[in-house]
Parts: sequence; structure tokens; C-alpha cells
Amino acid sequence: MLFLLQILLIILAVIAREHEAIAEYVPPYTSVVAPVNKHTDAAKPLYSVQIKTAWVNDQFLHANFLIDIDAPFVWHDCIVQWNIYPGSCPSNTLCNYAISCEEYQCTDLRTSYSYNNPSCPPETNSSTLPGWGSCACSVNVVNPVTGSCGQALLGYDELTMSAGDGRNAFNGNYGAYPDVGCAPSSSFALFPANVTGVMAFSSSPYAFPAKLYQPLKKTLALCFPSNSSAPGVLFFGTGPYYLLPQSNVDVRTYLSYTPLLSHPDSFGYFIGVNSIVIKKRSINVPGNTTTKLSTIDPYTTLRTDIYNNVVRRFSMVTKRIPPAKPVAPFGLCFTTSTVGLKVPDIDFILPDGKKWSVSTTNSMKQITNEVACLAFVDGGATSEPAIVIGTFQFEDNFLEFDLQNWTFGFSSSLLHRQTSCANFNSTVIESP
Ligand SMILES: *[C@@H]1O[C@H](CO)[C@@H](O)[C@H](O)[C@H]1NC(C)=O
Ligand SMILES: *[C@@H]1O[C@H](CO)[C@@H](O)[C@H](O)[C@H]1NC(C)=O
Ligand SMILES: *[C@@H]1O[C@H](CO)[C@@H](O)[C@H](O)[C@H]1NC(C)=O
Ligand SMILES: *[C@@H]1O[C@H](CO)[C@@H](O)[C@H](O)[C@H]1NC(C)=O
Ligand SMILES: *[C@@H]1O[C@H](CO)[C@@H](O)[C@H](O)[C@H]1NC(C)=O
Ligand SMILES: *[C@@H]1O[C@H](CO)[C@@H](O)[C@H](O)[C@H]1NC(C)=O
Repeated sequence: MLFLLQILLIILAVIAREHEAIAEYVPPYTSVVAPVNKHTDAAKPLYSVQIKTAWVNDQFLHANFLIDIDAPFVWHDCIVQWNIYPGSCPSNTLCNYAISCEEYQCTDLRTSYSYNNPSCPPETNSSTLPGWGSCACSVNVVNPVTGSCGQALLGYDELTMSAGDGRNAFNGNYGAYPDVGCAPSSSFALFPANVTGVMAFSSSPYAFPAKLYQPLKKTLALCFPSNSSAPGVLFFGTGPYYLLPQSNVDVRTYLSYTPLLSHPDSFGYFIGVNSIVIKKRSINVPGNTTTKLSTIDPYTTLRTDIYNNVVRRFSMVTKRIPPAKPVAPFGLCFTTSTVGLKVPDIDFILPDGKKWSVSTTNSMKQITNEVACLAFVDGGATSEPAIVIGTFQFEDNFLEFDLQNWTFGFSSSLLHRQTSCANFNSTVIESP
């Protein structure tokens, strides 16, 4: 009896020590990191993150997923199977285990976290897989480029990124296990070449951030590149984050913070904007507008009343620059025969007086060698939300979405700090 008791105590001691070890465990990585590419071969510039999708022949396959901070769940070009065995997945295809329409997440996703689009037909339980006694979970997906509705089947996936310390990527990987929609390649019509999925970074519990936090902090940092030949960077997890050449300056020291707001009917992210200031003159934003952040809209869109006031003020402060005939979708263009066009900043004044400055590289879109346009567009008299900040204004700005504290950090242009989103050190180092 005593002997048994001793064994029991030893076992308990071992368990206790293991618990302690788990509690004290601090991983050698602070974040996961992935390259962000700019694509200019579609109707509008779009940005993708490169993900490791499958391990085949002793190496990872990579795929580019469109970055979408609104999408309710991740979906990509893959198929679902119910009995995966060696050789069952056709070559050049990604296969995932099917989720049945009787499983909890099927109903939960369909009722609360699906695409909210009137053009989509109601979801049914009529999808089957050959030889499977269950129904497959079909879900609607909306192509963010065309707005058209398609069908996907839900499956269990594993998506992998590199672990890192904010300074370099490690050769070690970090896997996440989201439920994803598998859609046929026709669902990705008019996507840029080599972009075969939609990476949902929204606040939905089926989006990637919800699947990728332990033991990482739920913080997403985006740094969109301005040049398609030099990738930017995305981090998920706690800082620090570093960009060359200032290899010891944490990019977070450049950030100002404002509360993130949410909006009914959206899984996306919003901030408050109280006014827009151009050369000391303030343009009133009626009702302190809730402003949407969009990774799909290429240019900041303003409701007509706000747009007209911004354009009027901007024309006044740029009177010395010869005008040019407007080029759609822009309404105010300039002749830029002289090099080094410089225009006054457009400052978004946020609650608490924080200021997001949009300087020349983020306000003037060079159309040809001779013409540049104010990269803001008129969203119409009734557009809702009244302000949508788009991706041209994000380029070479560091953006941090802290989903635990629900705050948004922004740097304004990194070019004023002698760095850019293309300056993450691309050397991959051995995992500690
Ligand atoms: C599909 O099946 C699930 C589980 O049996 C059920 O809860 C759900 O109502 C069904 N949906 C439809 C559209 O028939
Ligand atoms: C698409 O990927 C293929 C193979 O990796 C590559 O050869 C091609 O240049 C890529 N195209 C674009 C537009 O990136
Ligand atoms: C993009 O980068 C390439 C290669 O570094 C360079 O030749 C090109 O001028 C850059 N384009 C712009 C618009 O800066
Ligand atoms: C807008 O914000 C300013 C500063 O925070 C505040 O003084 C003002 O009352 C707000 N106006 C409205 C209509 O909420
Ligand atoms: C987030 O909140 C935690 C606890 O409230 C705090 O310790 C931390 O400093 C906050 N982080 C930021 C970036 O505000
Ligand atoms: C990039 O990272 C590697 C590994 O940490 C380091 O040796 C190298 O000096 C870094 N490059 C620059 C330009 O700082």
C-alpha cells in the first residue's frame, strides 16, 4: 500500500512539474511572419500574403492568398475528400478533409459568419461526396474582385507560416488549423495571376487571427509594399518588429494608436475620423464619421460632400502646379513635367487628436510620366461608410491591428523614417 502511495506521489510530482514547465514556457519566437506581394495585373492593385499550404516531396508548397480584412473565413483553390489516403489527392491539387453539414461549425458558420450578400442563393444540404454517407457543408463565397457569388465546400485545413523574432524569419514553422472553404478555380475569376485564395484577417471567429494565437498575442501587423518587385511584410503576434537599416529600432515606436471600432453587419475594422486637415484648414467631417479600413479598395473613397470639400481645398493649396485633364476614377490631376512633385499633407484627425498624415507618395498616384492624380475618389452622395481608406494610402505605412485591446496603430509614411515596407531583413535564420 505504502509502495503504491509512493508511486502515486511520484507521478503527481512529475505532473506538477510538467504543469510548471508549461506555465513557464516562453517560445523562442514572438511572431509569425510572411511576405506580402503587390499585384498590378488585375483591374486594380491587390495584395497577397504567401502561405505554406502543403508538404509535398519533402518541401512546402506555397500559395498567394489575397489579403482581405473583411472576409468572414478563409477560402482557396482546393478540394475536399472524406477519405484521404496516399495517392487520393490528384496532383497539382490541394486536398482537405471534408466537414459534414451535421457538424457544429457548418451551421454556426452559415448562420452567423457567412458572406452577407443578396446575390447568393440560400445554402442547402444537398452536396454529397461519392461514397460518403454524409452531406458536405457547402457555403457561399463572394469574389472580392468581381462581387460575384460562388460555392465552396468546408474542410479542415492546415496553413503554415514561418516563426520569427520580428528581425528575421526562422527556418522553423508555425501551423494553424482553420476551417476553410474549398472553391473551384473558377471562383477566383479576375484575380491576379498566381493568387489562389482569400486570406480572411477579419474579427470573425472563422478568420485566420482566431486560429493563430496561442501562445502568440492576437495582433496583426501589415506593411504593404509600393512596388510589385519588392515584397512587404506581415506579422502576427507580439512585437517587436524591425525594418532595415535601423536594425535596432522597434517599428512600434513610430506608431500612434486609436481605438478600433466595429460596425454591425461587418467583420472588418473601423476607426473614428473627426476631420481632415489640409495646410492648417480643417474640413469638417459631419458627425465624426466611422471610417472603414479596406484592403480591397485601391483608393480612399469619400462621400461626395466630403470629397468636394477636400478637392476644393487641395486645388487651392496646389495652385502653382499646372492642372491636367482628369483621368478616371480621379477628379483632380496635375501635370508633372518637373521631377519631385511635392504637395501638402492630407491629415486625418482621429479622436484624441491623433493624426494620420497622408503625404505625397500616398496622396498622388503617378498615371504617366506627365500626369499624377489625387488618389481619392468620389464615392457618391449617399456612400456608407462615408470614408473608406484604401490600399494606396496604406503602402509603406506600418499598420497594427491589436485584436485583444481593440486598438489600431499607424505610422504614417515610413519613407520619412528612411525605411519602407520592403525593408524586412529577408535572411532566414536557424530557429533557436
Ligand atoms: C442541414 O443539416 C443540419 C444538421 O442536420 C441542420 O441543422 C440544418 O438545418 C440543415 N440545413 C438545411 C438548409 O437544410
Ligand atoms: C506565377 O508563378 C509561376 C510559377 O511559380 C511563375 O513562373 C510566374 O512568373 C508567376 N506569374 C506571376 C505573374 O507572378
Ligand atoms: C520597383 O523596383 C524595381 C526594381 O528594384 C525598380 O526598377 C523600379 O523602378 C521600381 N518601381 C517603382 C515604381 O518604384
Ligand atoms: C466630434 O468630435 C469632437 C472631438 O472629439 C467633439 O467635440 C464633437 O462633439 C463630436 N461631434 C459629434 C457630432 O459627435
Ligand atoms: C493591452 O492591454 C494590456 C492589458 O490591459 C496592456 O498590458 C498592454 O500594454 C496593452 N497593449 C497596448 C498595445 O496598448
Ligand atoms: C540580416 O539578418 C542577418 C541575420 O540576423 C544579419 O546577420 C544581417 O546583418 C542582417 N542584415 C542587415 C543588412 O542588417
